[in-house]
Amino acid sequence: MDLPEDYLDAFRCGNCFEILPKIPSESIDLVLTDPPYGIDYQSNRRVAREKLPKFAGDVDLSWLPQFVEEVDRVLKPDRHFYCFTRFDTYPVFYHEISSRFKIKNCLIWVKNNHGSGDLKGAYAPQSEMIIFAVKGKRELFGPRESDVLQYDNVPSAMRAHATQKPIDLLRLLIEKSTLPEEVVLDPFAGTGSTGLACKDTHRHKGDGKERFYVLIELNRDFHRAGMHGGLGKQARLWQDIPLAESAVPAKKRLVVRSRRLSRAREDQTLPLDLKTPL
Ligand SMILES: C[S@@+](CC[C@H](N)C(=O)[O-])C[C@H]1O[C@@H](n2cnc3c(N)ncnc32)[C@H](O)[C@@H]1O
Repeated sequence: MDLPEDYLDAFRCGNCFEILPKIPSESIDLVLTDPPYGIDYQSNRRVAREKLPKFAGDVDLSWLPQFVEEVDRVLKPDRHFYCFTRFDTYPVFYHEISSRFKIKNCLIWVKNNHGSGDLKGAYAPQSEMIIFAVKGKRELFGPRESDVLQYDNVPSAMRAHATQKPIDLLRLLIEKSTLPEEVVLDPFAGTGSTGLACKDTHRHKGDGKERFYVLIELNRDFHRAGMHGGLGKQARLWQDIPLAESAVPAKKRLVVRSRRLSRAREDQTLPLDLKTPL
């Protein structure tokens, strides 16, 4: 079933467990998400500035079965699902996801730097895991990739979110698993990196065509950061924007589609047009 137009390319501020049930069954082409870890995570990394805030839903993983069920419902048949996770919660995610999907790989994202963690008692963490699962059967697009993906982390000083993911990595996953103009859902969107990656696909070699995004984030501050500047700081994405254009004041650069405005006020959904530089 097709997704109503007002979901397309919208970054909703709200609880995904309230919004997901409103998304029609079999209307999404890819779910790519980085859920709360269930470990009460707070990054210790940032030294010069204040620590980035903890995020919601991170106290346990009791929400996971309902979440996986909803992902299964909204995905079209023969589509992919990527879920970031950690080494210590991987078995829980594996168990739950494999109850409804065929897990094809555990991708390892190797970063250019490492986190802090237990400084003396553990190896420095420099990787994250991404569960790659399929509903039905779908081949990957483009040249064959290894299950080890080496991508620079977002520099700590440029992060608006402690676990902000690099656009290049997300873009690769999107291009491997979708065709142009298909719809990508991220229900735990943080600062909206997945949305930027959907729009970034046309700027790079790949197939040169954009995807639509559907983003949901509970935390107003992360949502706002994504809307107003956090994403804009990932300058690589926007490097080809002429200086004169990127010098437009922030308020004017945020294009709000007027037909969505009244509804946006009601449900706190703020549409974001990422074709326009932030
Ligand atoms: C690991 S972070 C995702 C960060 C994101 N990948 C980025 O690049 O910015 C998980 C996010 O899920 C959000 N979250 C937690 N519970 C949620 C819920 N019920 N609905 C929507 N978002 C939720 C948290 O606020 C947090 O920002």
